Amino acid sequence: MKIFKHKINLQKELTSVKNLSFVPTMGGLHKGHEYLISQSRKKGKKVLVSIYVNPKQFNSKNDYLSYPRNLKKDINILKKLKIDYLYTPKFNDLYNFKPKKKVFLHNFSKKLCGKHRKGHFNGVLNVVNRMVEIINPKYIYLGMKDFQQLYLIKKHIINSKISTKVIGCRTIRNKFGVAESSRNINLNKKDMNIASNVYQYLKKQKKILINKKINKLNSIFLKKKIYSLGVKKIDYIDFYNNDALQIKTTNKKFNIFIAYYINDVRLIDNI
Ligand code: PAJ
Repeated sequence: MKIFKHKINLQKELTSVKNLSFVPTMGGLHKGHEYLISQSRKKGKKVLVSIYVNPKQFNSKNDYLSYPRNLKKDINILKKLKIDYLYTPKFNDLYNFKPKKKVFLHNFSKKLCGKHRKGHFNGVLNVVNRMVEIINPKYIYLGMKDFQQLYLIKKHIINSKISTKVIGCRTIRNKFGVAESSRNINLNKKDMNIASNVYQYLKKQKKILINKKINKLNSIFLKKKIYSLGVKKIDYIDFYNNDALQIKTTNKKFNIFIAYYINDVRLIDNI
């Protein structure tokens, strides 16, 4: 595995690489990241992972500073996975140039997390746009756990006529059903139990809602129950389909989208 801190050296290396798969991350690597990497091997001949905690996508300084970082551990994981390249830039390497493509922010960015984390998606698209320009990968691998992010990156890439293909991968969960996340490291046993109950409850409720054939989906009773499980705050619970359309009846396919806090840890999922 070759490690690059500067885009100049990385770009030199990549001039001879044709079929490159790119997996962008913020580190704190877990089984979800590992799954994306294993999938990315299937298409691309070479795999490049980036680790960069992007300050522009955090709307709270505290959240940015306390985001889990463990580069040594991450490097060991990536070496074992035998990826080809690791890119670990600093702020200037990513932000000291004017990108060729302007960020395209689809209207879906105003919903769900976009409503509760002002500027978040603009920050995500800004950094991904820059990375894609630097790396010019054939494929970019992203997780469906962050469905809104996946959708918005896809729209940006298509709208901007960037030749990279976006590939979405399913959500990897731990043995309790909780979606793997870098933030899970901040959950103790009791917290993990709450997160597990939230997932199990929503999964069960989704089935019940579908069987009951509901005319007007409503998140109020779901919210009540989830608070009673020990959740501190809920940003949203809402129903959307894979085309980012809000769903009101159970005649249509939908997922339940949730963002909530256990103590100060913000978790998102879609079920
Ligand atoms: P990060 O949270 O590190 O996630 C990196 C990638 O891993 C994302 O595509 C995310 O959807 C995927 N992922 C996270 N948890 C997953 C899980 N349980 N199962 C499968 N995939 C999972 O998302 C970001 O970083 C950043 O916003 C980034 C795109 C790197 C831009 O800064």
